[in-house]
Amino acid sequence: MPDQPPEPCLVMVLNGPNLNLLGLREPHIYGHMTLDDIAASLEEQAQRLGIEVDIRQSNHEGHLVDWLQEAGARGALAVLLNAGALTHTSIAIHDAIKGITVPVIEVHLSNPHAREEFRHVSFVARAAKGSISGFGAQSYALALDAAAALRQ
Ligand code: DQA
Repeated sequence: MPDQPPEPCLVMVLNGPNLNLLGLREPHIYGHMTLDDIAASLEEQAQRLGIEVDIRQSNHEGHLVDWLQEAGARGALAVLLNAGALTHTSIAIHDAIKGITVPVIEVHLSNPHAREEFRHVSFVARAAKGSISGFGAQSYALALDAAAALRQ
């Protein structure tokens, strides 16, 4: 049960390590949009969908764990989670997803399965409701549509 009154139209969008560098970082893989550009576009889409988005980024694993717990306590509709490289290493994030009833949608700009072997393991995918990857910034938009569809 949520600790606070549920926020059934809230979608938290959580971004992990190095995603603050989007636009500068390996643009041939991750594209030219910055995280602020993606956030602005998600805000517009969310408004059209009647959803409130809370978009955050941290380079620290514990922040992501805290924010997943917060999404649970707030009774959010869903979490969109791009955990960056922590996707492939973090059992703490896996357990945090398992520890809440809020559905988590894994998001990646690139398609990790088409890249180095160390990216083929996802501890997020094992706990998530579903995954969307490989569509660049559009992956976030597709995931927000998927989150909105959970309301029906
Ligand atoms: C990423 C894929 C991860 O493998 C990588 O470590 C990232 C970005 C993506 O969005 O494609 O930081 O999550």
